[in-house]
Amino acid sequence: MKQFRWQARVAAALAVFLVAGAAFAMTGAEVVQTRRSLFGEMTNALKYIAGHWDDSASYGDLAQAAGVIERDAKSLPKLFPAGTSESDGLRTAASDAIWTDRAGFDQLAGQLAAQAAKLARTTAASDSAQVKSEIKVVVATCKSCHRDYRSN
Ligand code: HEC
Repeated sequence: MKQFRWQARVAAALAVFLVAGAAFAMTGAEVVQTRRSLFGEMTNALKYIAGHWDDSASYGDLAQAAGVIERDAKSLPKLFPAGTSESDGLRTAASDAIWTDRAGFDQLAGQLAAQAAKLARTTAASDSAQVKSEIKVVVATCKSCHRDYRSN
């Protein structure tokens, strides 16, 4: 099965975050960098998915790309620790609402993970209209989180 080029790089960044991040404090700037590469990875995966929604020969890869979004969505809440907002002097588009309405933010991350998990169950036998509607709900969740929790 085809490998996604961006996967190894982001996986490495995440591993550093999850392992080293616990033992030695990562700087706020490093955390911001890690989450930005994660969003880049999700965007690449989503582009692949959107470009192949009606190509059942690619549904194996499409499911794999959806699995990447699911995994990243599950990591999201850990990547917004206190001290990584714009008011901490960092270059970030993370809005203060993340920290004032944490439950809402985490809920949207969980919603994205659940929706991507559905898409990750796509098989060659899946109906393309169904795949298309599952992609739409994923995109709507990306947008709704950006509307409420991203400052630009
Ligand atoms: C739970 C909330 C949430 C969800 C869901 C979410 N995002 Fe974001 N996204 C953010 C926040 C907050 C930022 C700003 C991060 C920063 O600048 O530190 C961001 C930033 C980004 C960026 C800019 C990264 C950069 O280099 O600055 C991209 C691209 C992006 N998101 C894509 C997506 C896509 C695609 C999805 C859906 C598959 C998605 N996001 C889902 C909250 C979310």
